[in-house]
Amino acid sequence: MSARPLIDRSSDAVGTALRAIADATDLDALRAAERRIDDEFAAIKREIKSVDAADRSAVGQALGTAQAQARAAADARRGELEATAGAARLAGERLDLTAVGAEYRRGHLHPVTQVWRELEDIFCGLGYEVHGGPEVEDDWHNFEALNFPPGHPARAMQDTLYVNLGEPEQVLLRTHTSPVQIRLMESQPPPIYAVMPGRTFRRDTPDARHSPVFHQIECLVVDRGITMGDLMGTIEVFFRALFGDVEARFLPSFFPFTEPSAELGVSCPFCSRSGCRTCSHTGWIELGGCGMVDPNVFAAVGLDAEEWSGFAFGFGIDRIPLLRNEIDSLQTLLWDNDVRFLRQF
Ligand code: PHE
Repeated sequence: MSARPLIDRSSDAVGTALRAIADATDLDALRAAERRIDDEFAAIKREIKSVDAADRSAVGQALGTAQAQARAAADARRGELEATAGAARLAGERLDLTAVGAEYRRGHLHPVTQVWRELEDIFCGLGYEVHGGPEVEDDWHNFEALNFPPGHPARAMQDTLYVNLGEPEQVLLRTHTSPVQIRLMESQPPPIYAVMPGRTFRRDTPDARHSPVFHQIECLVVDRGITMGDLMGTIEVFFRALFGDVEARFLPSFFPFTEPSAELGVSCPFCSRSGCRTCSHTGWIELGGCGMVDPNVFAAVGLDAEEWSGFAFGFGIDRIPLLRNEIDSLQTLLWDNDVRFLRQF
């Protein structure tokens, strides 16, 4: 057999191969086309032995050129297809860093906690320590050591929630933060400069102005030579830090554990005493009580009232966020737990 038929077949094979390669739209299709082309070239190669010996090298050369051409075309096409596939994969995996994600709203402290912490900050700035005490108290700390003798009418002023534990009416939910004064004086010697914020409890029916759970902050100073002037000065400095340009007011009052005692008021920070809705048109806002530590209290904790003197004051914390944020009801502030409302403050 002469060389011609196989040389023609080689060039046909290249033509077919180049078309198949150009038509391959992805790498799989290209690989399939290459396999068919290789099979065809292998078939041609097998035929070479039937060509006259002298012509075989001509066929071999034609076949080699054809294969090289097909391979070059396939390589070029593979390069193109790989580039397209890579670009497509990149486009698919692309992260849009400007995309807006699911919103995660940050919370904030409850308005009562905010004021609580602010009060602590003010007193820390004055060099006071912050202390705490148990919410479930015994009669001694909540009443007896504070000079409320058993059966004393002053006890009835504080509607107490008793806990059904031990002797009747000996364990209770503390009605004020004053028992922490006793615990402090029992546990450390004077001088004492301390504030004691905390949760307190009374048997009140919840309404706009009452809550069976509320918050107080207590202040206790015990040192040598403490006078009523120190009490009044400290309160005035503290009120100014909290409310700005205000005055403190002291009205004579009674508490078993202080003598003399006073009701503690502040001039209305909203109307500068000219009278507004917040201060019920009186120009003053009542906040709590204060006085000089009663000698009987010092006796109860084993301190010599001849050596030591001190003052104490205590007031409700909840009133402050109410006033500040013009919230009408203690219910909304403390009980409703409606974040849509609380979020504003
Ligand atoms: N514990 C008192 C009350 O809750 C307030 C008070 C504290 C009064 C300290 C005087 C001194 O009513």
